[in-house]
Amino acid sequence: MHGRQLVFLLMLSVARGQVNMDFDSVTRFFDEAGTLASNNYPDGYMVNFLETFVINPPGFESVCLEFTDFSINTASFQADHVAVFDGCRSDTDDTLLGRFTGTTPPTGVVCSSSNLLTVVFRSNTRDVAAGFNASWTAVNGPSPLLTGETGMFTSPNYPGNYPNFAAATYVICVPDNCQGIQLDFTDFDVERFGGLGAADALIVYNGTVQDSILG
Ligand SMILES: *[C@@H]1O[C@H](CO)[C@@H](O)[C@H](O)[C@H]1NC(C)=O
Ligand SMILES: *[C@@H]1O[C@H](CO)[C@@H](O)[C@H](O)[C@H]1NC(C)=O
Repeated sequence: MHGRQLVFLLMLSVARGQVNMDFDSVTRFFDEAGTLASNNYPDGYMVNFLETFVINPPGFESVCLEFTDFSINTASFQADHVAVFDGCRSDTDDTLLGRFTGTTPPTGVVCSSSNLLTVVFRSNTRDVAAGFNASWTAVNGPSPLLTGETGMFTSPNYPGNYPNFAAATYVICVPDNCQGIQLDFTDFDVERFGGLGAADALIVYNGTVQDSILG
């Protein structure tokens, strides 16, 4: 009887350790663009903190996030980390876009496949760092399917500059009796050097995205 009580108490304390953070906050954003930062940034985040940011701008097809500053403590057994989810936060990681710690944020921009992106920051019970600062922008895309034997398309906002974080996919489908697709660029001006080493790029695929890249 005494032994059974002891086991029960032990299990209870393990379960409490997993779910009880000193702070557990959820912040929601519905704006088209903005910035978010870890608590108390840049003066050092608090220990044992679970912080969730839900970015959900209505009427958009994607949310793109870029970390502008990133310093997360890795020293302890379970390092502090930032997780980015495509959609809702999931404990099974099936919507996880990446988990990041140290001074290495994701390279370039991370985008969601819908207008919902979730960022979860978790600190452990000791050792902190400055934290992170990030900015997001809502974007629209993909562009409609292009069909027919000839056609034209442009980058977003052309001939003006395309916006930051723009992402557009153009799928060109021609009738079955055509032998192939010829693509001529009549104007081309794409920025070569982006923030965090990520240049803007135009990629042409032969077939679906999984197939070969032509250039
Ligand atoms: C985060 O970065 C933005 C610029 O991207 C800046 O305007 C903002 O002040 C920064 N936030 C903090 C808390 O320093
Ligand atoms: C594109 O894919 C088709 C079908 O797989 C192939 O026949 C063709 O040679 C490819 N074209 C190029 C330029 O790689």
